[in-house]
Amino acid sequence: MRRTLLLALAVGLTACADQQPKRETGPVDNMPLSLIPQPAQLQRTPGRFRLDATATITVTPGDTAAKHVAAQLQSWVRQARGITLAIGEGKPKSGGISLATSAAIKGREAYTLDVDGKGVRIAANDETGLFYGAVTYWQLLTDPAAQGGVPGVHIVDAPRFEWRGLMLDSSRHFQSVSEIEHLLDQMAMHKLNTFHWHLTDDQGWRLQIDKYPKLTETGACRKAIGPDVALTGGEDKPYCGFYTQDEAKQIVAYAAERHITVVPEIEMPGHAQAAVASYPKLGNGKKLAVSGDWGVNTALFNTDDATFVVMQDVLDEVMAIFPSTYIHVGGDEAAKDEWEHSKAVQAKMKSLGITDEEKMQGWFVARIGDYLDKHGRRLIGWDEILDGKVPATATVMSWRGTRGAIKAANAGHDVVMAPSPTLYLDQLQSTLPDEPPGRPSGQTLKTLYDFEPVPSDIAPDKADHVLGEQVTLFTEYQPNWYRIQHAIFPRIAAVAERTWSPKADWNSFIARLPAQMSRYRAAGIVPADSVYAVAIATEAAADDKARVTLSTQSGYGTIRYTTDGSAPTAQSTAYSAPFDVALPTTVRANAFAGGFGLAGPRDRAIDAKSLLHRSSDELDTCGDKLVLRLEAANAVDGVRPVYKVDIMNTCWVWKGVRLDGRYGVDVTVDRLPYNYALWKDTAGIVSRKARSAAGEIEVHQDTCDGPKLSTIPLAPAKDSRATLQGILPKREGTHDLCFVVTGKPGPKLWVIGDIQLR
Ligand code: ACM
Repeated sequence: MRRTLLLALAVGLTACADQQPKRETGPVDNMPLSLIPQPAQLQRTPGRFRLDATATITVTPGDTAAKHVAAQLQSWVRQARGITLAIGEGKPKSGGISLATSAAIKGREAYTLDVDGKGVRIAANDETGLFYGAVTYWQLLTDPAAQGGVPGVHIVDAPRFEWRGLMLDSSRHFQSVSEIEHLLDQMAMHKLNTFHWHLTDDQGWRLQIDKYPKLTETGACRKAIGPDVALTGGEDKPYCGFYTQDEAKQIVAYAAERHITVVPEIEMPGHAQAAVASYPKLGNGKKLAVSGDWGVNTALFNTDDATFVVMQDVLDEVMAIFPSTYIHVGGDEAAKDEWEHSKAVQAKMKSLGITDEEKMQGWFVARIGDYLDKHGRRLIGWDEILDGKVPATATVMSWRGTRGAIKAANAGHDVVMAPSPTLYLDQLQSTLPDEPPGRPSGQTLKTLYDFEPVPSDIAPDKADHVLGEQVTLFTEYQPNWYRIQHAIFPRIAAVAERTWSPKADWNSFIARLPAQMSRYRAAGIVPADSVYAVAIATEAAADDKARVTLSTQSGYGTIRYTTDGSAPTAQSTAYSAPFDVALPTTVRANAFAGGFGLAGPRDRAIDAKSLLHRSSDELDTCGDKLVLRLEAANAVDGVRPVYKVDIMNTCWVWKGVRLDGRYGVDVTVDRLPYNYALWKDTAGIVSRKARSAAGEIEVHQDTCDGPKLSTIPLAPAKDSRATLQGILPKREGTHDLCFVVTGKPGPKLWVIGDIQLR
């Protein structure tokens, strides 16, 4: 939000706060409220308002904005309470809810909300403000503190930023219209207002374009690989999906009803492989299929005038569907190899007097930017657009950390903060063994919450250029709606608070979140409970016992546990310090606050064998070139195992192993497709000399170059999941063990799943 507007808003808020209505006298209830995002100003006031079926939602006659929001609030109340409130026009009635637009409330999206013994009054300058006031009231209605009626409040609220966003990648995996609508419902209930929709990429073009039907006839399908085979039903069945223009318009309208703008992203000049596979004349001479490889594919659009005609035609149709001011044109990860080798592109560069390919991308983006400008739209792109001469009106979305935003804002461009890895939701949010596949760098709810959208390196007089921030979900590892929910919820709550509320307060946020988790569940959302869930760590202890250490990511609540197999309750033993258990024992644990379990209980069966076992999650990778958690193509007992692996260096370390009396090692391995396009990083893949064609697992002592204790041939695994046995020589004492896969990853990848010492 512009600083000037913020100032005007602040003055308006203060003035408004000064003219507070006369309050009822009586006690103020102090049970904390669980609103997310936290309003800018909130005062507790006397009284409570208990809603019943006789209450009316009243709007001023002719106030169409209020009437519209009244109908939305009516449906939320119906869902939350099972009652349908009447909507009427006239003067606010005691014992009901009134909604009114009012010029006295200053600022876009701002609202006031008053609850007392007589009822609820929501006022705002515009319909969006009224909508957000209604959202806040709905949150109060669904707050545990509202059991005996919504407690009295006086709220004066407005957002900190104008861009409160979430990006969803529908190219790597495709979501149904109803799933996207479900997500938009939730965005609205968090007061997020920008849905950035990643519609095209190397792995799929997902938007119907009437003038170029092959973009979806060809570009919306790719060969199914790995776990996606289960989604399509066979290797011979492609993975397909696209949105018709009518469906896209339906989503735009659905979003608009919820005060959300849909910003479409059409990637160029890179991430173009699906488009080039559909229309090879758009590319640089290579015959390409829609890619099934994650990573950086190198297909680029060429720079012919005819290609710009196609792109402009595409943008015409895009602009006709999406009324958004901003049109996102990608611009990221455009590997320039094809342009370097293209005679036509080189000749064009020469004729334009452009000396390098990065500047050529700048020229490409500027030409598209001009086209959008002429149509009253504004270009937004990932921060690589700064590498060339970016048009002055372009807005920069900073994903390679914050430096793009700092450079752009200091140069006078508007920016949106979307730094990887912090705001990337494909990054996993815990190290719990039940986390789904993804990138394990560990962006917890707190890391995300702690991100300050205006970096101190942006000059104070340029800070207004930060429009806001967004979370980004690329979906290579989110093939279905369940995984998407896990990645987004509850991290969406953190981005909502950081983009809306003027102040951040983690301790308050984590205490308000359990009520929000209940709201998710009531809405049919399955959130990740990683922030509250108990991690159960074990190690061998004296006298054939195991030492158990319990912890949670947030430290919020009291950890309670059982050792008799029963479910932990609010009365179970409270955990205070590591404790010893006799073998075998199953420990079950959960964190509790206010008498309720905060997460799903977690359990761990501990016996002599489990103490000599490690899954790949519990091992260290030997480096961190490109560490992923990947799932098996096939299920074992109904569940697909997940493996942690550095796909550029297949090597794992088990630290501190007591080797006395250990004469055997079982290694469970699996074979995964190696569908990664690593571009220049390919040169960094670690290769180890193999003794046989299938390769082997070598076990080394102390370091990965240390004495070789065992060589376990991979051939008997026959290219699939198997447990292989190795022999260990007699050793004494505690040592690190390093497990390396010989050979080189690609076109398939050996991974280690589990190691069991015997
Ligand atoms: C990106 O993550 N390539 C924007």
